[in-house]
Amino acid sequence: RRLEQIRNFSIIAHIDHGKSTLADRLIERSGALSQREMAEQVLDSMDLERERGITIKAQSVSLDYTARDGRTYQLNFIDTPGHVDFSYEVSRSLYACEGALLLVDASQGVEAQSVANCYTAVEQGLEVLPVLNKIDLVSADPDRVVQQIEEIIGLDAADVLKISAKTGQGLDELLESLVQHFPPPMGDPDGPLKALIIDSWFNNYLGVVCLVRVFDGVVQPGEKIRVHSTGREFTVDQVGIFTPKQTSWQSLTAGRVGYVIAGIKSLDGAPVGDTLTHASQKTTVPLPGFKVVKPRVFAGVFPVSAEDYEDCREALAKLRLNDTALRYEPETSQALGFGFRCGFLGMLHMEIVQERLEREYGLNLITTAPTVVHEVLTTRAEVLEVHNPADLPPLGEIKEIREPIIQASILVPQEYLGNVIKLCEDKRGSQKSLQYVGNQIALEYEMPMSEVVLDFFDRLKSASRGFASFDYEFRRFQVASLVKLDILVNGEPVDALSTIVHRDLAQVRGRELTERLKSIIPRQMFEVAIQAAVGSRIIARSTIKALRKNVTAKCYGGDITRKKKLLEKQKAGKRRMKQVGKIEIPQDAFLAVLQVD
Ligand code: GTP
Repeated sequence: RRLEQIRNFSIIAHIDHGKSTLADRLIERSGALSQREMAEQVLDSMDLERERGITIKAQSVSLDYTARDGRTYQLNFIDTPGHVDFSYEVSRSLYACEGALLLVDASQGVEAQSVANCYTAVEQGLEVLPVLNKIDLVSADPDRVVQQIEEIIGLDAADVLKISAKTGQGLDELLESLVQHFPPPMGDPDGPLKALIIDSWFNNYLGVVCLVRVFDGVVQPGEKIRVHSTGREFTVDQVGIFTPKQTSWQSLTAGRVGYVIAGIKSLDGAPVGDTLTHASQKTTVPLPGFKVVKPRVFAGVFPVSAEDYEDCREALAKLRLNDTALRYEPETSQALGFGFRCGFLGMLHMEIVQERLEREYGLNLITTAPTVVHEVLTTRAEVLEVHNPADLPPLGEIKEIREPIIQASILVPQEYLGNVIKLCEDKRGSQKSLQYVGNQIALEYEMPMSEVVLDFFDRLKSASRGFASFDYEFRRFQVASLVKLDILVNGEPVDALSTIVHRDLAQVRGRELTERLKSIIPRQMFEVAIQAAVGSRIIARSTIKALRKNVTAKCYGGDITRKKKLLEKQKAGKRRMKQVGKIEIPQDAFLAVLQVD
């Protein structure tokens, strides 16, 4: 059945192209919030999101809109996260919609991230409506962007909507087209319940709140429901919608988007992409596409002072309440002491967690260089998943090491093609396709994920003066010639500085790293040797000369307080240090492997 008076849609947009501003305008139009409540952008609710200007979690808002045909429609806008690390969440949000607005900044043009999401939308059968935003800017170049939309994405953009989310220009036409062009949802309100979990988060008072799209049936308070993947059952306490204020309703029927609260205690109990059914429906086939999200990047997180260990554990536990993709387990490092091995979706996710731990929980942390997950086939024919270079079995027990391979989609203007191809080749990439689209080139490369994690994005930006855009997706594990590169400081291996690198690059990396560490580790009263080793073979070495004796020599002769002062002064300058043996190693050293030239 067509559920005529509902439209479910999302907005596909590159970061900064104006999605939040447009959402604000839509909310304003519906009059659901007061002026004061509107004062803040409502949709990006986390501080960090606002500060970094990126949307991290999906949210939704339901608006009533009376169209020119005199009928009132419920428009459900489902927000999607705007970053490569969260592409699974994006795909689930899109699955809940019948339409998507492709919002493009008319002064910037199409970017790879939106192209990738747009393809996902088209594949899932969504109606995609291109919209040019920021038409008020003098630098807006609608003709060029229309051409891009047609060439790169293959959408007919002849009568593209032109709006300004800032001034509100074109908003009425946008709302009308949305009602006219997006199909209403299909569903059977009398059938067995099937609801997709689009997103879930933890609320201190209510427990887990699930944002759902009901495909069939009805869900209401008092009913027993089941979470399909776990088979666990819960009783529904409350259902409702976001206007964007949380507003409780008597029921959520087929076609609608809203929330369900059902006494679920932890986010693991309501994974994104899962299906809710009534507990009595033992044989219902779930909605397709459910995946358990797996962290792909791991790093050690260590409190600088050992007393903060318990606080750190508590903070991680709290963050995880709202972030199922975050994993952590205790880790002990000879060099850094007690800490946690944490798993993240990608680099951005990692930075966000790190920043929250420091800012919201006031922790002073040392983070080790992120590494990807490797698969190791041992001589006993076991396959191990290795999250930490320190956990690699001894050389003699390794049959092969497999590294994760990603497929990268890059969009770059022609004049930078040479630079970008060179960069991809330096990163051990192999070209899968190259396509001319207007004066842009769409490139597909397979690359080891470890090369991308390092600094690929920054390098890509500088190779293209900021014009290239980039998206990636995990493909498979592949055997590679990899070795563990150890770093020894005065003959002692520092486990937290070990990395897994390609055999051919070990020498170069070893040399770079020892040189870089030489410039990062402060000079001591004695000479410090820094060595890079593969197995027992030393492949590079640098030496940090001892401090010149005469720095404190002046003080000899009894002026002990002055000498102390001098030392204290030195200390203050290096807050984030870790004592490793006799040597203090600053935080920067543990991230030195990230900055390869
Ligand atoms: P994410 O939340 O990361 O996806 O970013 P966003 O796409 O939501 O961007 P946002 O709405 O925060 O807008 C980015 C910047 O563009 C802000 O400074 C807005 O004020 C500005 N902006 C948005 N729409 C318009 C517009 O129509 N005209 C002009 N001139 N500026 C706009």
